[in-house]
Amino acid sequence: MAPETTETLPADAAGIARAAALLRAGRLVAFPTETVYGLGADACNARAVAGIFAAKGRPHFNPLIVHVADAAAARAIALFDHRAERLASAFWPGALTLVLPLRSEAGIADLVTAGGASVAVRVPDHPLARALFAAFGGPLAAPSANPSGKVSPTTAAHVLAGLSGRIAAVLDGGPCPVGLESTIVGLTGPEARLLRPGGLPAEVIEAALGAPLAPPEADALPEAPGMLASHYAPEAALRLEATAPRPGELWLGFGPDAAAADINLSPSGDLTEAAARLFAALREIDARARACGAVGIAVAPVPQHGLGRAINDRLARAAAPRP
Ligand code: TXA
Ligand code: MG
Repeated sequence: MAPETTETLPADAAGIARAAALLRAGRLVAFPTETVYGLGADACNARAVAGIFAAKGRPHFNPLIVHVADAAAARAIALFDHRAERLASAFWPGALTLVLPLRSEAGIADLVTAGGASVAVRVPDHPLARALFAAFGGPLAAPSANPSGKVSPTTAAHVLAGLSGRIAAVLDGGPCPVGLESTIVGLTGPEARLLRPGGLPAEVIEAALGAPLAPPEADALPEAPGMLASHYAPEAALRLEATAPRPGELWLGFGPDAAAADINLSPSGDLTEAAARLFAALREIDARARACGAVGIAVAPVPQHGLGRAINDRLARAAAPRP
């Protein structure tokens, strides 16, 4: 792939119009959502979608989330049952992705669903994303806008650090307020399944459904969320549940007990703040570890409830052994 000059587009009418025009021409444009930046392509243009996999260096078998402006647009792509309707009306726009049976007549490129019978759909809650969808007028396939296997981007600078020269543009909307990828719920069978913990706590989804979420099926494909061990890997080795650093380690803290930490995700112990800071903090402490030759990064314990579940999921992947 020949390198291209990646444009940084401002968060105004001209920037949105330019982004939409590039997308219509089959080009790749990164855009902010409330969770993380997505790398968008026209979901109905197979060549454009193929470009996403090339730019990210992503294995082709991993399907993509389709982003749309509202639930009506999602219903044109996927079959909604009463559970999907309930979750969509409770949490869209927002940090929830639903995996539903695909409407094959919707014209979504096969690469988006990896040729499968289901499709992941989401209505983001970010004013720039919504303005972009309105200007573009169709569904956008978008994974997180990072090279495959790296930490998801929560600023335009993060996007450029990984993908500059490989995509047409990034629409700069500043930092993403939630900071963790969306929660993915699978509704293709009789049981609602939590396929990936994320920016919407599982507990509130369970409350809306009036039923617990089941774990992913044991025979889920290896590309299913959570199965790629080192998906969010920084370069330094991470040691989790560390109440203090060992000699030569940097310390990524959480809460008032970690006042001496090199970086604290939330000095007051607020999980929402910690989620919003997590990926930027991992990048920053990884860079510091390289700069000072640290032996690794000790990570303070994070409570396993609410957004803490998704934070711990991402930390576990960041700490997983590399292939
Ligand atoms: O917050 C987010 O979800 C961000 C923003 C950009 O929307 N997107 C994101 O996309 O995190 P990505 O591609 O990095 O992660 C999407 C996950 C992948 O693990 C993929 O396997 C899963 O969704 N997925 C997509 N389609 C699926 C399907 N039909 N069935 C099961 N899993 C699916
Ligand atoms: Mg991703």
